[in-house]
Amino acid sequence: MKRFVDMIHTKKLGGELSETEINEMIQGYCDGSIPDYQMSAMLMAICFTGLTDRELTAMTLAMRDSGSVNDLSPISGIKVDKHSTGGVGDKTTLIIGPIAAACKIPVAKMSGRGLGFTGGTVDKLESIPGFRTDLSITEFFQAVRSAGICLNGQTDDLAPADKRIYALRDVTGTVESIPLIAASIMSKKLASGSDKILLDVTTGSGAFIKDYGQSLELAKKMVTIGTNAGKETVAQLTSMEEPLGFAIGNNLEVKEAIAALHGEGPDDLMTVCYTLAAHMISLGKEIPFEQAECEARTALENGTAWETFMAMVKQQGGDTACMENPDKLPCAPIRADYRAEKDGYIAHMDTEGLGITAGILGAGRSKKEDAIDGSAGIVLHHKLGAHVCKGDKLATLHTSKEALANAGMQKLRSCYTISDEPPAPAALIQDVVR
Ligand code: URA
Repeated sequence: MKRFVDMIHTKKLGGELSETEINEMIQGYCDGSIPDYQMSAMLMAICFTGLTDRELTAMTLAMRDSGSVNDLSPISGIKVDKHSTGGVGDKTTLIIGPIAAACKIPVAKMSGRGLGFTGGTVDKLESIPGFRTDLSITEFFQAVRSAGICLNGQTDDLAPADKRIYALRDVTGTVESIPLIAASIMSKKLASGSDKILLDVTTGSGAFIKDYGQSLELAKKMVTIGTNAGKETVAQLTSMEEPLGFAIGNNLEVKEAIAALHGEGPDDLMTVCYTLAAHMISLGKEIPFEQAECEARTALENGTAWETFMAMVKQQGGDTACMENPDKLPCAPIRADYRAEKDGYIAHMDTEGLGITAGILGAGRSKKEDAIDGSAGIVLHHKLGAHVCKGDKLATLHTSKEALANAGMQKLRSCYTISDEPPAPAALIQDVVR
């Protein structure tokens, strides 16, 4: 058996590791026989020399198999999972999950919490009073059978190798590696047990990967891994040059999702939701995309998507009265308006900065154990490209303490660029990789 130090040398020089060596690496790191310092060196070597498609698939499958792999076969029908690589104001799962379920695609989904400046579906759902995201596997199956949909939290034994490696990457400067990101995301998706996978790969100032070329590379790598693992995988590339919709922050986004399910969603949010829902329905029913998009629109317009959302909330213990009347959801006691400092067009938004601002206000965590304030966040009043006059409200901050409002306001000021010229128009849906 090759010593691990020799494997590090191989990777450092751009060589290829065998499947057996990669399995030994993941198992060895999980059982403690490979120490952090050697794994760190290996991850750094991967950052510089990459992984071949064979290595990438082997690493992802080894990470998938480090914990339990869900068996969703007791739920009949083609199960399609959906995953976003992270964004700001991205509440699409709350909308497209019920749309797809209303179109008879079983939605048995495990979602994550916020990561860095991006929000997470579990945090948004938990801002609904009573909503449970810790259902047992029996309750999970029961919920999908009765409501057609369950949005549950990821269990601890879902790809535990990814948890350990991600924590190490976080402190060794090895997060921003396309193959490592691809393996991390796909190990969890493959362990979730669905039949097909839809990926929303965000790109731009509010995404983890800001450069379009690199986002496309990430999309292609994840599609390759899914295909090699025998799961049909589709990736949509979505621009995140501004937050999706107007709301950023957990229950503010739930309110916007409720409006969207009543047909009153902002244009950009609805465009992304309809295309993602159409991909899910097309994959699940094996029908053309255009037909699937018609079904998605009908489910929203005839109210069945809303009924499905309500069935899900009820099934998972959430307060349905608050959903019928979202004004009953907790409201932040402090509001502060940020106003335009001059006339002009909103030419650029530092979307990552807006996500960080929402975190400062209480919508995210800076340490793992931090509690989230479900009502904290930002409501935008204008989108990218809008013409505004000095003194117009650009955004309202929602928070619980004066000090947080001041800190958030200071950060928010650096997030807007107002110019005499409007920004060049850019497509929201940039590409699809199959
Ligand atoms: N999301 C993940 O799950 N993993 C990464 O490496 C980056 C984003």
